[in-house]
Amino acid sequence: MGKKRLFLINGPNLNRLGKREPETYGKKSLEDVEVLVEQTASELGYAVTSFQSNHEGDLVDWIQRAEEEAEGIIINPAAYTHTSIALRDAISAISKPVVEIHISNVHERESFRHISMLAPVCSGQIVGFGIDGYRLATLGMIQKVESEGRNHS
Ligand code: DQA
Repeated sequence: MGKKRLFLINGPNLNRLGKREPETYGKKSLEDVEVLVEQTASELGYAVTSFQSNHEGDLVDWIQRAEEEAEGIIINPAAYTHTSIALRDAISAISKPVVEIHISNVHERESFRHISMLAPVCSGQIVGFGIDGYRLATLGMIQKVESEGRNHS
């Protein structure tokens, strides 16, 4: 049997991490994030498949794929967090745990960022720890997978 696998999914504009508003999102690149998650997961015996897209439907496709191909999903849905019923429905429709992560503290920013369409159907949320949040999300995800599996209504 192959290694257990997690999906790391990043949404719109995160391909420009490091260049995009570095005062808010830091100077590390998306590749740095992907390496961080891969290293964290591999210490605990997990493999990671990383995917980034600026397109909502592509993100839906990857959430659906996780049902067959991954133990769980770490996702930064970026701006779609605040708008996407399609992503929410995709998460609701799979049985695998999903952890939502945001680099910035969305709660100290504009009010439209305070609402997450996805949080109610995710197993957990990490907010405001910068890039390190991806490591925390990976550790939390693996703990979730190893202990109880999915935990939401
Ligand atoms: C973000 C927060 C979102 O509000 C924003 O649209 C992003 C990034 C974060 O990681 O802090 O693109 O998800």
